[in-house]
Amino acid sequence: MINCNSCLEQDFDAQLVIGRGNTSANLMIIGEAPGAYEAELGVPFVGRSGRLLDEFLKRVGIDPSTDAYFCNVIKIRPPENRRPTKKEIFENLPWLMQQIHLVNPNIILLLGNTAVETLLGIKGGLSKVRGNWVEFNGKMVMPMFHPSYLLRNPSKEDGKPRALTLGDLYEVRQKLDAFELI
Ligand code: URA
Repeated sequence: MINCNSCLEQDFDAQLVIGRGNTSANLMIIGEAPGAYEAELGVPFVGRSGRLLDEFLKRVGIDPSTDAYFCNVIKIRPPENRRPTKKEIFENLPWLMQQIHLVNPNIILLLGNTAVETLLGIKGGLSKVRGNWVEFNGKMVMPMFHPSYLLRNPSKEDGKPRALTLGDLYEVRQKLDAFELI
């Protein structure tokens, strides 16, 4: 168990959840914050949404354990799974920037509004930017739906979030191939 200033203020014990996957990968995947299961194990994206994300990655030929590095904007689970506050995001940002610097990926996937708002400063407009490449600090960035949103939207029909996400991931795979990053 690790305590930090904001945890003390929030009065809860917290487990740091840093990252998983290949720290030299050319692909970095950034979510919002650890869920309960992630906090218990200290590993990001190992619960239901993480398993769905792994399944989608494998479908386009991206191996989650060797081809990608996973982390979150927030390193400690917010109580009751609430959205992180601006203060928590501000306090965690240096750690995320350091991770990006150290892993130094060519491609970054931003999953959900919190990651998109934090890195690109685009507020509440995920559906407008989803699936479009954006440049961030010389890296190719793709905003995408968060896998927990895909869990809440199980339809596999064309034009629905799951099919759109699969299309986005095929494009990511093509980019990795084109630049010989995989
Ligand atoms: N949701 C996230 O954003 N990150 C995790 O690690 C797990 C669920």
